Amino acid sequence: MATHPPEPFRIKMVEPIQLIDKKSRETALQRAGYNIFGLKSDEVFVDLLTDSGTGAMSQDQWSGIMLGDESYAGARSYQRLSETIKEIFGFKHFVPTHQGRAAENILCAVILKEGQYVPSNMHFDTTEGNIRARGGRPVNLVCEEAFCDDPDVPFKGNMDLEKLENFIQEVGVENIPLGMITITNNAGGGQPVSLENLRGVSKIYKKYAIPFFIDACRYAENAYFIKVREPGYEEKSTLEIAREIFALADGATMSAKKDAIVNIGGFLACNDPALFEKIKNECILREGFITYGGLAGRDLDAIAVGLREGLQEDYLAYRLGQTRYLVERLKEEGVPVIEPAGGHAVYINAGKLLPHIPQGEYPGQALTVAMYREGAIRGVELGSVAFGHPDPDTGEMVYPEMDLVRLALPRRTYTQSHLDYVVKVLGSIVKQAKDLRGFRITYQPPLMRHFSCTFEPL
Ligand SMILES: Cc1ncc(COP(=O)(O)O)c(C=O)c1O
Repeated sequence: MATHPPEPFRIKMVEPIQLIDKKSRETALQRAGYNIFGLKSDEVFVDLLTDSGTGAMSQDQWSGIMLGDESYAGARSYQRLSETIKEIFGFKHFVPTHQGRAAENILCAVILKEGQYVPSNMHFDTTEGNIRARGGRPVNLVCEEAFCDDPDVPFKGNMDLEKLENFIQEVGVENIPLGMITITNNAGGGQPVSLENLRGVSKIYKKYAIPFFIDACRYAENAYFIKVREPGYEEKSTLEIAREIFALADGATMSAKKDAIVNIGGFLACNDPALFEKIKNECILREGFITYGGLAGRDLDAIAVGLREGLQEDYLAYRLGQTRYLVERLKEEGVPVIEPAGGHAVYINAGKLLPHIPQGEYPGQALTVAMYREGAIRGVELGSVAFGHPDPDTGEMVYPEMDLVRLALPRRTYTQSHLDYVVKVLGSIVKQAKDLRGFRITYQPPLMRHFSCTFEPL
């Protein structure tokens, strides 16, 4: 029978949750325009919308908060974070930011010009949004295996190195102001990238003198995947692996709301002093002085502690065990899931579960609504709603390869019984799958539409 390693913590404080009745759920859905971002948290029983900023901080992080130094400049909290970032990431410079997208915004502001390209394995939506907002073009060059059904491919987040080199030659190095890679690959199933692949990517970017930035949100989960899946790394600590990863890059964007297990925060790091000069100015303009970014001193302390806790190997074994457990149990119920299990989330292939709903009628949206209606579970569509966009040259709609629904697991928050409840609800949805219908969008903003668009059922 499937199970996962026991939680390497016990619970000292609890937050009540309640399951509202079916009629109230229907009313909530209609009020929200069938967009689960419009639901109130009290209307949700198990909230798997995101693992971002939703984790439970530890006693050491809460103690760190009490030590927060709120000085405007040069706070002790900044020094503590600075030491931690040096130790784990090794970059020469950094600024704190209020979250990951703020780091992306600053980076794009200082490095990107209209019409230029930014390759990656797969950009997350905020990265895509920030690149597009500056007139740039995000390009996804993940390996072909990312979309295959084989559950034994260990590093589906890898970049296709041949495609990367061809792409650089095709559009010209002068049109690529930076290259990225996302670890783990959130938009592609939370799948990890191997160190071998990271070395290959770094070598190509170096060859063409393209600055290499890592989207590092889930660096600790990626490091643990390397430890357990990549030959030669079994005996290395996750800290040693993390150092090896970041030594290959010129900088990183980080949302601390993920693997630093805090509720808010992030940073932008780099090695190039000239680039850092520009970053500092942009940070002061947009976020705040360079020793606090958009954060309070206490937030910086919580991040400093969380960055180390996120790397603890008993915690990572339990954490990745949870996603693996959910994948195994969902498969038993006939739910098509991306395999192998990713780090922070389980991804359901809604296109496969609901083949009668075409991409333009949003199968992922249909499943997301069904999960809420059936069990007050909140997941998020990562398919044609989140990533569908008009082609900048032809205006024709371009849809992603897969219509996924992501069930993200907040860190140290839900127990195995919560996961069993999710399995039960999805099991009953599978039985009524052929009766589910698609949706039509009734309102959408120009960028990142899935956060605020509204729908009507077809
Ligand atoms: C891979 C990745 N990059 C960037 C971000 C943006 O971070 P934030 O939500 O802190 O702005 C996220 C958030 O989910 C992410 O998963």
